[in-house]
Amino acid sequence: MSFLFAACRPHTPKPFQILLFSITWICSSTRTSVGSQPPGLTFYFGTKTRYEEVNPFLLENPLLVTGKQDLLPNMCTPIKIVSVIRHGTRYPTHKQIKKMKKMHDLIVRQEGIRSELVEELQRWDMWYEDWMDGQLVKKGEQDMSNLAYRLASLFPSLFTKDRLKQNNMTFTTSSKHRCVDSTKSFISGLVHDYFGFPQAPESELKDLPYMEPVINDHLMRFFDHCPKFLAEVEDNDTALHEVDKFKQSPEMRKVINKIATLLDVPELDLSADLIQMAFFICSFELAIKNITDSPWCNLFDQEDARVLEYLNDLKQYWKRGHGYDINSRSSCHLFQHIFQHLEAAVTESKSSQQVSMPVVMQFGHAETLLPLLALLGLFKDETPLTAENFISQSERKFRSGHIVPYASNLAFVLHRCDMAETPRERYQVQLLLNEQLLHFPHSHNSLCLFDEMKEQYGHLLDGCQIAKECAIVKANRSSEDEL
Ligand SMILES: *[C@@H]1O[C@H](CO)[C@@H](O)[C@H](O)[C@H]1NC(C)=O
Ligand SMILES: *[C@@H]1O[C@H](CO)[C@@H](O)[C@H](O)[C@H]1NC(C)=O
Ligand SMILES: *[C@@H]1O[C@H](CO)[C@@H](O)[C@H](O)[C@H]1NC(C)=O
Ligand SMILES: *[C@@H]1O[C@H](CO)[C@@H](O)[C@H](O)[C@H]1NC(C)=O
Repeated sequence: MSFLFAACRPHTPKPFQILLFSITWICSSTRTSVGSQPPGLTFYFGTKTRYEEVNPFLLENPLLVTGKQDLLPNMCTPIKIVSVIRHGTRYPTHKQIKKMKKMHDLIVRQEGIRSELVEELQRWDMWYEDWMDGQLVKKGEQDMSNLAYRLASLFPSLFTKDRLKQNNMTFTTSSKHRCVDSTKSFISGLVHDYFGFPQAPESELKDLPYMEPVINDHLMRFFDHCPKFLAEVEDNDTALHEVDKFKQSPEMRKVINKIATLLDVPELDLSADLIQMAFFICSFELAIKNITDSPWCNLFDQEDARVLEYLNDLKQYWKRGHGYDINSRSSCHLFQHIFQHLEAAVTESKSSQQVSMPVVMQFGHAETLLPLLALLGLFKDETPLTAENFISQSERKFRSGHIVPYASNLAFVLHRCDMAETPRERYQVQLLLNEQLLHFPHSHNSLCLFDEMKEQYGHLLDGCQIAKECAIVKANRSSEDEL
């Protein structure tokens, strides 16, 4: 009982951590605004937020592992980690680059007397090209190799050389270029940076099977394979009506009006989409090139940034989050897969076998993570996000930039606790989002007994059959439709 109590108390920072934090803070504050320019905007970039924004100490030391004491309960040993990881920093997509050009052209066309800012924007080099189309950038490779290093450092008993050599780690990925490349960079960080194996041509390493990421879109891009989601949300012109409405809201009109004045262009030439693109250029320049003084950022202040963040969050909410049930339900196959992995480890451990697959890393998208987090009941606000409640949602839980920045990662960590007084207490699970403990929504604790988790999410394990969930139910289908 005492053990259970200790294990399940809500997480509070230990004095040690507070001390560590203060030292870190003092050290970093002696330098001038380390990488945090443009001040005040970087937190509002939504899904285009840098990972360093959620763990700012990484700007100083990208390999720093924090909170180790915190993760491992006394007398417990981690026996398995199953992670879902978003790809690292990427280039804008083809579609985004097209909009960027349009926005830039609008400014370049300006003649006559122009403000300094407009001149700066006119001189700005539109260096994004079509071939870049959403691919992983150099910084994105580093995001992944550094993450691999930190995760391995956090769980050295799971990430061992032997396990790597014996093919006891799996690396599954979405088929998208940026995800496959992210997986390769992660593996490379593990193999070379963490384990210190020398760099060698791939041909010399071909006998090591762990080098190959396994593509599985059914798992990592479940949203493409769910007809009901496609019909009701993805391909449904009215599913995002709150987003469209917000584009016409007084808050958004104010931003459009302000930018039109700054740029001295007719308001009619600007749209919420174009303004959002200007804001994204500011974010891409920072994330991709570490440019902290891009003229694009000077168009916006914090108030504008909050409005544009909300526009981004609204879309994620209705398309990937709690907005529609099918968004999260479509990920239940992935959840079941994760759970089966944990259960297999419990079974092996109970029969005193070694856990055969202690490391399972799965690479996907923000669109993979958001539905899964929603399915688990996380980041759920009491009232839905709508076009009207921008102000009352200012303290909302659902902030995509804080949840799914580039390289965001959700880890299920299974522990065996040998000192447990009852068998039920022997296996416990922790959830880490972006390397920080998450609290389970049902208990507000950061630890959950494995059996308790099984009960808590039983409705997803037994009650969610993906084929059924994703079937489009038409009234009185004709037999031809069944084909
Ligand atoms: C990014 O820019 C900041 C501020 O200009 C600088 O302090 C930092 O070292 C740069 N980071 C990298 C990784 O180049
Ligand atoms: C499209 O979305 C709207 C709003 O949620 C909904 O009422 C409508 O039924 C959806 N259409 C389809 C084909 O599912
Ligand atoms: C993993 O490790 C176990 C021993 O713990 C071994 O029997 C197994 O063959 C290894 N490989 C795979 C792919 O499971
Ligand atoms: C579907 O068929 C059933 C029985 O055949 C009938 O009672 C029902 O009204 C039909 N529904 C529609 C929407 O046509």
